[in-house]
Amino acid sequence: MHERIPHGAKAAAEILRELLDAQAHNAACWTPKAAVARLSLPPDGTVKGHARTEARMLKFYTAGESHGQALFAYISGLPAQLPIDLKFINTELHRRQLGYGRGGRQKIEQDRAEIFAGVRHGNTIGAPIALRIENRDWANWEKILPVEPSEDDPGARKLVAPRPGHADLAGSLKFNYHDARYVLERASARETAARVAAGAFAKILLQEFGTEIASHTLQVGNIRLERPATWKDIRAVSADLDSPLRCTDAATQDKMKTEVDAVLKANDTVGGVFEIVAHNVPPGLGSHAQWDEKLDGRLAQALMSVQAVKAVEIGEGVSIAAAHGSDVQDEIFYDKAVHRFRRFSNRAGGLEGGITNGEDLVMRGYLKPISTLRKPLHTANMVTKEPVEAAYERSDWCVVPAGAVAGEAMVALVLADAFLQKFGGDSLAETRRNFDGYVRQINEF
Ligand SMILES: Cc1cc2nc3c(=O)[nH]c(=O)nc-3n(C[C@H](O)[C@H](O)[C@H](O)COP(=O)(O)O)c2cc1C
Repeated sequence: MHERIPHGAKAAAEILRELLDAQAHNAACWTPKAAVARLSLPPDGTVKGHARTEARMLKFYTAGESHGQALFAYISGLPAQLPIDLKFINTELHRRQLGYGRGGRQKIEQDRAEIFAGVRHGNTIGAPIALRIENRDWANWEKILPVEPSEDDPGARKLVAPRPGHADLAGSLKFNYHDARYVLERASARETAARVAAGAFAKILLQEFGTEIASHTLQVGNIRLERPATWKDIRAVSADLDSPLRCTDAATQDKMKTEVDAVLKANDTVGGVFEIVAHNVPPGLGSHAQWDEKLDGRLAQALMSVQAVKAVEIGEGVSIAAAHGSDVQDEIFYDKAVHRFRRFSNRAGGLEGGITNGEDLVMRGYLKPISTLRKPLHTANMVTKEPVEAAYERSDWCVVPAGAVAGEAMVALVLADAFLQKFGGDSLAETRRNFDGYVRQINEF
């Protein structure tokens, strides 16, 4: 929607455009593309609605159902000439499939990304990227969920006993199906495979500039890691493909495993908390200026969108609510050796006023226990309205490490977007030039 702006405002818009153009050309840290995109001021003096959407530099979408042919991801906005390591993307997909407490589906699938567009000779070309992850389970569902109209009984895998805690009932009411099958097919966290593949591209961009993202398991049920984990520990356990729950402390992990075993035996499920750390993030990503530009809010929304995440914490956000102001702020000093302002602590989790402050970004996702239970829950049949037991579909019973990998992907996508909003660039060399100019500015501050 283009909305006409009044005469005075148009003059202001023109002045702003001139200022932006001058800034874009003069300042090493902003490209014209980034600057104009931020304000979305087209030449006719109109402004567009949905400013943040318009200003978004890195866009991504996913498509695909849990038991359909494949999952798809579409990523647009990465600079050209970014080297893409397919092995890294597939390792990320593998990490998402791991974790103690997963159901039989992970044995069927061996997720691999196939890139169809936007990457040639191993590099991005500035065109949209399209990728596909095949669902091997499709072979078992081809007759049940065909694309074409079919003679076979479409009701063969109807789900009329909606599972509490799932999108089953809410989605069926919304889309007017007396069968939750289509809703659950898309609501399923199988979709996070496509997000993880998209997130791997974002990670690749961020890694070019020294920013890394890793995660670990902080809590499973009531079993919590009590000692602080260092970046080195988190980075190591995050990449450890043999670690059952990706907890940095072996004794705590053993207790977590016992808890996962206990819930399986009781036909129950368990939730927990994962922590994601983004290391070596430049200060100045995000903005305090508008509510929807605040990076803490954008990260919280992205993490909250991961299936089963019911709360998000930035830094020590939850515990500091009960403390006094004098106890919780991260006091500042200047480290002459590295030309940087530093903190004695990082309770803010690297974000102040919605802007990165140069400390590690620390975010936590709180996962509810998985809702599909072997122990029947009460529900109502969507057709007969009679009380029945909720449906059971093959299911995980603990997904904290897998949820963390999906969370890492979302954090990477939001950070890469904020990064490109700040530094812009149509080619990697251009982005790097802008980034280096900003680093110089910070060093000389
Ligand atoms: C990696 C991952 C795997 C999941 N696996 C399952 C599963 O096997 N069974 C299940 O009932 N829910 C599973 N979930 C959670 C559901 O997808 C989620 O609870 C459901 O779609 C409803 O969304 P909501 O909990 O965000 O409201 C999983 C979540 C994640 C992050």
